[in-house]
Amino acid sequence: ERGEYRHYMQKEIFEQPRAVADTLEGRIGQHGVLPNIFGIDADPVLDRTKQIHIVACGTSYHAGMVAKYWIEELARLPVVVEVASEYRYRDVVVPEDTLFVAVSQSGETADTLAAMRESRRRGYLATFAICNVPESSVVRESDLRLMTRAGPEIGVASTKAFTTQLAAFALLALDLGRRRGLDHTRYLKLCKELQSLPRFIESALRIEPQIEELAEHFILKHNALFLGRGVQYPVALEGSLKLKEISYIHAEAYPAGELKHGPLALVDEDMPIVAVAPNGPLLDKLKSNLQEVRARGGELFVFADEHAEMDDTIEQGVMVRLESGGEFISPAVFTIPLQLLSYHVAVMRGTDVDQPRNLAKSVTVE
Ligand code: M6R
Repeated sequence: ERGEYRHYMQKEIFEQPRAVADTLEGRIGQHGVLPNIFGIDADPVLDRTKQIHIVACGTSYHAGMVAKYWIEELARLPVVVEVASEYRYRDVVVPEDTLFVAVSQSGETADTLAAMRESRRRGYLATFAICNVPESSVVRESDLRLMTRAGPEIGVASTKAFTTQLAAFALLALDLGRRRGLDHTRYLKLCKELQSLPRFIESALRIEPQIEELAEHFILKHNALFLGRGVQYPVALEGSLKLKEISYIHAEAYPAGELKHGPLALVDEDMPIVAVAPNGPLLDKLKSNLQEVRARGGELFVFADEHAEMDDTIEQGVMVRLESGGEFISPAVFTIPLQLLSYHVAVMRGTDVDQPRNLAKSVTVE
């Protein structure tokens, strides 16, 4: 079933262009996001929504964090994202007309499901699920839903589930944006950009040989730091989770601006720093963060797009260039090299890639 691939994880990484295309199929067209894709009852709910609470665990939580940047920018709706294990036991304030969104690959994660059930008692406008398994509890118990179409994900490390969740959230963010006065020309441009996502994922996958070489630098490391800014910060979090999970290297992610508030003390020649740095308004800020790291001898691995200008100090590190496809879809595109990196580091370290120790694919107990 793995075919030409050595592990399910690798196969699933390479399935992403198809999985994302399937998730977008029949849901977005030339004139934008198609009607009724969130269910026939969705219109009045989405028109009324004034706030959003997104609840999930692990990788699905990171997808929710990306969505916060998107929805707040495009629809100007306040979004709160929280891990389900905290949300369920907290006395959450739910303003009027708040939409509850649960995100889960399996739809059976105990904390996410319990959070969703708890949300029923908390007076939300409605419950919305983004999920990969149609017959799962999360889907059955939600009012509105948008299914990801990743197909079965076998590897414990979530890959195609994440990028398809991003595709689903992008549809939601665009649809909410359109309802709430997003400039129409910009809306159409972003819709087009989203439709090109499978193609840019495809092109990111082509740099695998380069990533494999780069992975060798990590084999003997005990720690790694992942940096991103803005919408790339959750991407850095997801990259660090992947590395921890399957290669057992301790990794942490920080929004790069936080470096000097503590983690910079950890930086020395033994600390690889992975930076997600596509072009964008925060690039200059990130660059000065990276110079601070260089000045302390930290080994830099920078993922940038073809337009991002770097300077000599940064170029002394390892630079990987890829086409971002545009600022909107770039979080999904820049996730790909980080998945490949953790995969190849794990293979070189000889860990059990598809079944990492101590972890289960679906965490159905608390
Ligand atoms: O099935 P779910 O999306 O609800 O699972 C949530 C997490 O358990 C899951 O994403 C986990 O963090 C992955 N193993 C990460 O690769």
